[in-house]
Formats: sequence, structure tokens, C-alpha cells
Amino acid sequence: MTNVTGDRRNGRHSEVGRDGRVGEDAGGVRRQVVDIIASRTLYDESYLLPDSHFEAELGIDSVIFESILASVKEQFSLVAPLPSGLVTVGDLVRAVERACQAPAADVPGPAHTAAPGGPLLETVVTTTMRHTQYQRSQLALGADFESELGIDSVVLASIVADAARELGLPPDLAGTVTATSLDELVEALRPYHEDTRRVDQSLTRPGSGRGASPVPDERATDGRAADGRAVDDPGSAWDSRSMKDFVEERDGDLFAKTRSFGRYLRRREAERLYWYGMPLHSRCSNRAVIFDELEGLEREFLMFASNNYLGLANHPKVIEAVCDATRRYGATHTGSRFIGGTNMLHKELERRLAAFKQRSACIVYPGGYAANIGAISALVKSYDTVVVDKLNHMSIVDGARLSGATRRIYQHNDMADLERILKRCDEDPGGKLIVADGVFSMHGDICDLPEIVRLAKEHGARVMIDDAHSTGVLGRRGSGTAEHFGLKGEVDLELGTMSKTLAGMGGFVVGDEEVVEYLRFYSNSYVFAANIPAGVAAGLIASIDVIESEPERITKLWHNIRLLRSQLADAGFDLENTRSAILPLVVGDERKAMELGRAVRARGLYCQTVVFPGVPLGDARLRVSVTSEHTPEDLETAAGIFVEAAREVGVLPSAG
Ligand SMILES: Cc1ncc(COP(=O)(O)O)c(C=O)c1O
Repeated sequence: MTNVTGDRRNGRHSEVGRDGRVGEDAGGVRRQVVDIIASRTLYDESYLLPDSHFEAELGIDSVIFESILASVKEQFSLVAPLPSGLVTVGDLVRAVERACQAPAADVPGPAHTAAPGGPLLETVVTTTMRHTQYQRSQLALGADFESELGIDSVVLASIVADAARELGLPPDLAGTVTATSLDELVEALRPYHEDTRRVDQSLTRPGSGRGASPVPDERATDGRAADGRAVDDPGSAWDSRSMKDFVEERDGDLFAKTRSFGRYLRRREAERLYWYGMPLHSRCSNRAVIFDELEGLEREFLMFASNNYLGLANHPKVIEAVCDATRRYGATHTGSRFIGGTNMLHKELERRLAAFKQRSACIVYPGGYAANIGAISALVKSYDTVVVDKLNHMSIVDGARLSGATRRIYQHNDMADLERILKRCDEDPGGKLIVADGVFSMHGDICDLPEIVRLAKEHGARVMIDDAHSTGVLGRRGSGTAEHFGLKGEVDLELGTMSKTLAGMGGFVVGDEEVVEYLRFYSNSYVFAANIPAGVAAGLIASIDVIESEPERITKLWHNIRLLRSQLADAGFDLENTRSAILPLVVGDERKAMELGRAVRARGLYCQTVVFPGVPLGDARLRVSVTSEHTPEDLETAAGIFVEAAREVGVLPSAG
């Protein structure tokens, strides 16, 4: 594999001296230090000048500074501590040079230097560093974006958009250019880059410098994409943009992108294709009264969008518990668990969750999202590796990004791919964490836990499973994926959310005591955030009571799942490999999926229409969730509605 500057793992520079340290090349030292700062802060390298003050100019606090120092020491194999009082980038560079006994030449001047390979390669590398937090030395040119660098299509689109902007290439390349490695990306951009250079050279206008796009981004001005597609005019043809197109729109006014997105949203709403976030005017049960803000109408819908899998959100004991505890302890705690925000019910809830999950300890977080980002970033550091399924929930993706670790993505539930990836990082000295959804939230299938556990043992990795959609659904007792596979105690950490089956709010992680204790002190989303109110904790405890005392709810749920699943499969829908209460009706094309959602809603059924970023582009679907509260008539009616609507929009062939 070709490296940009050296070996990928742990930044061992290719020019390691006989004493095992790097340092004979002063320019190289400076660039590596700057790379490390850039990767820890997400600043562009060109911003990191010798005089840049860590605190005053760069906003680098002591925590980030310590992580920079740790990486610098590791990269240069420095044993002795660096001196204190390093306040600028130049100070740090000089200190490292001294420590490496390298001449302190070349420190003043702009920190940005081009990598061999010219401005195209350099721009691609620096934008990749910026979007991934990797250091230059971790970016091998031939490394596979997904399996080796954990760069998914969303991050790639941002890299392409950013590089295109910097190089003055057409602005809509992000949607069209695909590549599986940096090498490929450079080659894919090269023809555009060369065209742009030719245009630059032929321009007589002085001062037409790089960075100013020769192809103006017309979207923002006249509602046309660069290829001439009309995009903002409601009367014109189909607007083929997706939400992805508004992520990287740059403008001096931060709110410019909100205006373009607003125009796009209004249009989708006018077409009745975006219908997200309409308020309920009733409890959410098998039916719900929803106020349609677009039509100004209140209407009862058959409800197939709720994750209230066991109907506990409406259970009288749960509601009573919430009300009683709220009357007793007040509405909220107004502070973190560490500073006066711990109620005895938090402790009780943690005990009950640990017992329900048959693990020794539990930590409750403010939410499932907070649990993922908090637990992953507490355990996994920049010298470790997180290995994730391609279809994991966004909170896992964000937790992995926040950790700054090497991310590696295996193809969805593909255990051969997971094994390949684990083998590749066998030699890495850092720790490894495999994270997967137990039940995949937009697909409904179950992770291959037995294989994950086996491979983790073989390769010395830890495992964390997100049971957001498995709790209350999988296992005879409803305790989740590990119970389903008879692997209790074999999974290092089991995470859950309490906003779904458990009918409250909050997230949790269960595992061994000392691991949970560590998470309590090192998860920022726990330490620096207020937790769930006592009333919510009381409701959650009541929900666990009900799950344990009314097991027939799980039996009923599974009866309903089987009934609707077989009706939809018989009708010809692609349900992928669902094995849970989530039934995906796979469509693929975003427009068709939105049209199907509209046709279903028109018939009085409410379910989720899932487009980017809920699923990758081209994988759009309806997501139907079944609960124990649905009656046989509800399921029969729902199946009829899905079939009729799918025939109307051409997702299923018309009858006869
Ligand atoms: C798999 C998964 N993990 C985590 C979460 C986040 O949970 P919460 O809504 O409690 O923040 C969700 C929510 O949809 C989820 O589906």
C-alpha cells in the first residue's frame, strides 16, 4: 500500500531513525505536528500558522491540547515529557524538533506544505483529514474508504464537495463522483481539475485565482443545478436533489443554506411528499389522531410508525408511576447526575435494568443517542479502532467519529468481511471495539451475534450491541439480542434506549461493574448533561414490571409481526431479511418511496417514509412497525392499504 507520508497505523513515519525516533527532516516534523493538530481540531492546515495561539486563536482547550500532546509523543516516539508553556503551534514544533534533535529550521512561514503529487492530491488529502479527523500518516492512498478508513458515502460526499470547492471544480461533483480510495478519488477528479486549469489559463481576466470556482454555483441564485436542471421552481420538472445536497452549501452567510433548503422543503411539502413531524392530538396507540398541518385537518390514522412495541406508553401502571413520582420529586433535577441531579429512582432504575438484562451493572444516560456517543468516545481513543456495520444507527456513527479512532466499516452483516477487517488490524497495538445494532432500525434484520462474538474473541476485540429495537422484542423475556441467541454474558456491553419499548426517555449501557463505573466518569454525555427526570425513571421501572409480569404482550407482538409480515410478503413486497417488529417495504428510489408514503397516508395509515439520511441514497423505503396493540382487523386493513397504494404508484404491478 502506498502511504502519503508513512505507515498508516500509529503514525510511524517512514524515516524512523536508528533510535526508533523520527526527526531528521525539520519540514517533515512541522508538517506532522500540524497534521496532528489539524486532525484533533478539524482546522484546515493552512490555518495553523507558527504564531497561532492554541487558546486565544485556535480555541484549543486543555483536554484537546493533552490529546494533541499524546499523539505527538506517540508519533515521534518521545519518552520524556515535552516542556510546559507551549502556547503556539511554533512552540510545539520547536519543542518536538528539539526533542528529536532535529535542526529547528523552517519553522516560520505558513504551515501548509504540499504533499508530493501536486495540488490535486494535496487538496484531496487535506480535505479528507478535515472530514475524518485522521492524520496524514493514517491515510494510505490505496486504503479502502469503507473497510479500512470507515469513510461512508456521506463523508465522501463532503470530502468531494470540499475538495471541488477548493480546487474550483464544478460544485455538483459531490453527487456524481464515487471512489473507493484516495487514489481513485484523485483519478476521478483529475479530468475536472485539468479542465479547470485549462479554463484558468485561457482566462485573460487578471486575479482569477484558485479557490474561486470558474463554474458558479447557480443553485443558490437562480434555482438551477450546475447541469441546468431546474430545481427550485415548483412548476418545473422533478427536483432530484435530496437532503444530502444542502449539507455542504458554503456561503459567507451561515443561513444561506437554510434558505435553499427551505425552498426545497416547501416544494416537497407542496407536493405532499415531506410530511414529517405532524403533531399527535391523542395518545399513540394502534390508532392516533394526527393534525395534518399541510391540510389544516385533524384526522385519525392507523398508526404503524410507533416504536411502542409492547403498548407500554399507554399502560395505566406506567402512567400512574410517572404522575406519582413527578408529584413527589418535582418536574426535573436541573443538573447532571454528578451535581445534585441523582434521584434514588435513577439508582433503582439502574438496578432494575441490570437485573432485567442479567448483567452486573448499568449506567443510565439522558438518551440512546447520548449513550452511544458517550460510551464509544469514553472507551475508544485515537490509537484504537472501532469496527462498525455499514447500516448501524447514526448515533454509533457519530460516537465513532467523536472518538477520533480509526473507523472500519464492514458490509452489512457480512461476517466474512468483518473477519477480513479484523485480520487486517491484528497487528495494531490499540484496542478494538465492534459495534452493531442488534436489530437494524431501518431494515428489521438481526445482527449475526454468534459470529460477531466468535470473531471478537479470536481477534481480541470487545463487542457492544445496540438493543434499541430488540429490547422487549427479542428473547423469551424480551431482554434483547444476547438472550435471543443464548449469548448472555458473552457480549461485553449491551446498550439500549428507553424511548421505545420501555415507553420513557433515556439510554443505558449494561456490562461489568468496573467498565460501567469507568463510563460514569468518562462519558461526557453523562457527566456534562442532565439526566432523565424522576417521573420518567419511575415510569421506566413500572414498564420493566409490566414486561416481567405480562409476558403475553411479547407473544401477542410476535403473533402480529408474523401475520402482517406474511401478508406483505405474499403480496410481493421486498421485506429484505426482517426478523423483528420492523417491516421495511423496500422501494429504492426516493421519489417512488415518497409517493408510496403519500398514497398510504391518503388512505388513512401513518408509517415512516425513510429517505437519506435515514438510509443511503437509492435505498429508500417505508418503515412499518408492528406493536402488540394492533388488532387482527388493523393488520388486515393495513395490508390492504399497502397493496392498493403500491399498485397505484407502480411499486407493485397492478392487479389482473
Ligand atoms: C439503533 C438506535 N440506537 C440509538 C437510538 C437513539 O435513541 P434515543 O431516541 O433514545 O436517543 C435509536 C433511535 O432511533 C436507534 O434506533
